[in-house]
Amino acid sequence: MLLILIVVIAGAVTGQATQINHAWATFIMRWLHVLSGVMWIGLLWYLNFVQVPTMPKIQPVESRTAITKFIAPNVLWWFRYAALATVVTGLLLAWMNNYFLQAFTLRPGFVMIGIGMWMALVMAFNVWFIIWPAQQKILGLVEATAEEKAAAAPRALYASRFNTMFSIGMLYCMVAQQNAPI
Ligand code: HEM
Repeated sequence: MLLILIVVIAGAVTGQATQINHAWATFIMRWLHVLSGVMWIGLLWYLNFVQVPTMPKIQPVESRTAITKFIAPNVLWWFRYAALATVVTGLLLAWMNNYFLQAFTLRPGFVMIGIGMWMALVMAFNVWFIIWPAQQKILGLVEATAEEKAAAAPRALYASRFNTMFSIGMLYCMVAQQNAPI
């Protein structure tokens, strides 16, 4: 509501009504892409900078189930669907910008966004095929032996840390396309 009000008032004040065309549709896709990207990376950073380091400090130990049984499964749901939404909107955005193949094949002028897209795809792969299956075992959402749980913990941790480090460079490449393309 507030956003609609801002858009309408801004249009009235400046006398520049929004034109509904391809440029506008691309802009809306960019907005949806950044929204879902913020949701994904925000939760990734919450997990790495807040939840994981704080867990061992929670006392008594039984109260940690508030995190493992309630907060973490909810975080992981938003986390993986935000990752999926980011990938879908990002790919659509590249296609609407007419540089889908040039970006993926790292052609001159599209090297930065291409690297960013490859990095983000590796991260999304980690979310869906490494972190999520491992977390399901750790949180007891699927049947797993004690050994399987023990093996899943470092796998989830390292994949999550890898994504956190990758997110810094990936975001540089995302925003570089508009400001410092190579
Ligand atoms: C596979 C996943 C992704 C793909 C395919 C993708 C693709 C794209 C494309 C094509 C653009 C437009 C670049 C331009 O021409 O200026 C873009 C911009 C952007 N992306 Fe992504 N992206 C992905 C993941 C992410 C993630 C995880 C984030 C995290 C927040 C993100 C944040 C951004 C931002 C902030 C911009 C710049 C928007 C602007 O400058 O107006 N992207 N992305």
